[in-house]
Amino acid sequence: MATIFSGIQPSGTPTLGNYLGALKHFPELQDDNDCYFCIVDQHAITVPQDRLKLRENIRSLAALYLACGIDPEKSTLFIQSEVPAHAQLAWILQCVSYIGELERMTQFKDKSQGKDGVSAGLLTYPPLMAADILLYGTDLVPVGEDQKQHMELTRNLAERFNKKYNDIFTIPEVSIPKVGARIMSLVDPTKKMSKSAENQKSFILMIDDEKQITKKIKSATTDSDPTIRYDKENKPGISNLLSIYSLCSGRSVEQLEKDYQGKGYGEFKTDVAESVVNTLKPIQEKYYNLLESDKLDDILDEGAAKANRVAQKMLKKAEKAMGLGRKK
Ligand code: AQP
Repeated sequence: MATIFSGIQPSGTPTLGNYLGALKHFPELQDDNDCYFCIVDQHAITVPQDRLKLRENIRSLAALYLACGIDPEKSTLFIQSEVPAHAQLAWILQCVSYIGELERMTQFKDKSQGKDGVSAGLLTYPPLMAADILLYGTDLVPVGEDQKQHMELTRNLAERFNKKYNDIFTIPEVSIPKVGARIMSLVDPTKKMSKSAENQKSFILMIDDEKQITKKIKSATTDSDPTIRYDKENKPGISNLLSIYSLCSGRSVEQLEKDYQGKGYGEFKTDVAESVVNTLKPIQEKYYNLLESDKLDDILDEGAAKANRVAQKMLKKAEKAMGLGRKK
């Protein structure tokens, strides 16, 4: 049985990208593994958040995890800020990180570029992510492609700590889905779909209704060559829609290319929208039921209690290895 950890930021409502790149793959893992699924709210505050909106997003994300099939009997679902060991180990890992390696992170560069008053937290986000993962003795981290660089850093920090202090951290492997690891923006298909993007048309939210989904897909950027084929370089928009369609319908990209030979973009986009609606609708129904029930808070309380127990043990080991506190 492997230990699995994955987190999502409540920096907005999850998008179809978060679903296809991450959430969709979680339920199948929980039968044979010890899974921790986390709402990483401390990561979300590395950029400014509205207090009330953040609280709403945290609950909403918890309900979405469950609506996607996370079973609290099998997995531990919890909120990062309710387990203080995350921030405590993050500090330790910041002290073994080098400023240069943190400044080289693509996400830091993207999110800080051209901005005044960039928070120090945006720079030290990766050691917090490393702490999230290392606290649970994680073997495997299922993420989208955008997190690959942070995962490499997590492995480096764990190896560095183990070598310098004591061999306590498991070195985690990363698992990136073959298709859907990087769902692109519907407006600019050279950029990744992100929940905090300013342009609402660039993403499909997991709770968008049929009308919104259809409108956004119909207005998705494509190109002037009318053939429907996968070519990321020259046809990034159509390729992105083909990936989305394939993941939502279970039909391979090659099969879809054959099925849509000689057909126009209009018909294709209508069908893509229909498959997205059919994928999200059952999740949305469960989501709205969960939001109204008290069950959600009980599940999160139990999740935090279990995560605290496990995380504390590892934190103590790390503190002891470094000589912190009085215990020998
Ligand atoms: N476009 C995407 N395609 C595939 N996978 C994606 N993920 C994110 N965007 C895509 C995966 O979703 C998980 C949770 O991501 P996150 O919320 O922790 O942070 P993120 O990667 O920065 O996601 P966003 O939506 O872009 O958030 P904001 O806008 O706040 O920065 C991860 O496994 C991620 O790989």
